[in-house]
Amino acid sequence: MTIRIGQAGLGEWGKNLARNFAGLAELAWLCDPAEGKADEFRMLYPQARWAESFEELLADDSLDAIVIATPVPTHYELAREALQAGKHVFVEKPPAMKGAEIDELVAIAEERDLVLMPGHLLLYHPGVLKLKELVDEGALGDVLCVYGNRQNLGRIRPYENALWSLGVHDLSVILYLLDEDPVEAIAHGRDFLQPGVEDVAFCFMRFPSGRIAHMHLSWLDPHKKREMTVVGTEKMAVFDDMELDRKVTVYDKSPWKPVNTYGEWQTRTGDIHIPKIATDEPLKLECRHFLALVEGDGDRVRVAQDGARVVRALDMLTTSLNGG
Ligand SMILES: NC(=O)c1ccc[n+]([C@@H]2O[C@H](COP(=O)([O-])OP(=O)(O)OC[C@H]3O[C@@H](n4cnc5c(N)ncnc54)[C@H](O)[C@@H]3O)[C@@H](O)[C@H]2O)c1
Repeated sequence: MTIRIGQAGLGEWGKNLARNFAGLAELAWLCDPAEGKADEFRMLYPQARWAESFEELLADDSLDAIVIATPVPTHYELAREALQAGKHVFVEKPPAMKGAEIDELVAIAEERDLVLMPGHLLLYHPGVLKLKELVDEGALGDVLCVYGNRQNLGRIRPYENALWSLGVHDLSVILYLLDEDPVEAIAHGRDFLQPGVEDVAFCFMRFPSGRIAHMHLSWLDPHKKREMTVVGTEKMAVFDDMELDRKVTVYDKSPWKPVNTYGEWQTRTGDIHIPKIATDEPLKLECRHFLALVEGDGDRVRVAQDGARVVRALDMLTTSLNGG
């Protein structure tokens, strides 16, 4: 069966989604009210119809799924309308800005047996999948802490702060690796450039197992960093998305207590290993997974619930960031 897709939002990121879905499914409708978009995208995808409003997409009974790549504050409303119209939904990250909102979306999707998939791109990155494999098979020993660095003097967004724009990526990875929800979430940050939109955020989380995590998120920074570090009792691993052929590095390093040193800790340094990581485009893998879920393969409930877990943690960090 060819899945018929309608997409709302054709900005910087949306055009990548449209390119992928056009190659994997039938891109039947496109919608973006910004000036000039209709001319630009009609040329690129002449087979797709142009919708003047989101409601036109919803009204097409033969449309299976809707892809939402609009600004974050619009996600919840658009996703809710699409689910209520009986459409499967791929919604860019984060799918909502409040725990209560995502819970409502998950409930509608479950009640109607629809796919609600948030666009957590990094969960399809072969480097992150390798980290997860190392953690799950115990290759690092017991995981003690995880920390993410996502900094770049890059795009300064007018609505989403660094936590909601950058942190959502790292948070999705941290929760995926640890597979538990934080019991404590503390965030500090500052809105230097635009009132109410934090440019820099430092976030700390503690988990029921005792493990801890940290994220440094900023677009006011001299470095361009896309890094996740996992510290285990036996080994330590780093995922560095800025590297071309060294995406994951495993350090055979750890503290240890020799029997003859009266309980004093020493350190141990062994080999450094660079596993081979597939070069598949994460976005294509992500789009394929969405289509597979629509076709009935895979666990559609889990995907929605994992997305909800990320929003709830973001919500906790936001409460702290706002001084709550
Ligand atoms: N997964 C990733 O790696 C990744 C990377 C960048 C952005 N994103 C996400 O993608 C989304 C879009 O980001 P972007 O950088 O493309 O933003 P953007 O501002 O470049 O584009 C957003 C587009 O949505 C359109 N739009 C606004 N309201 C609309 C509506 N009601 N119906 C249809 N179109 C509407 C705007 O006109 C604009 O063209 C955001 O949620 C962002 O968080 C994800």
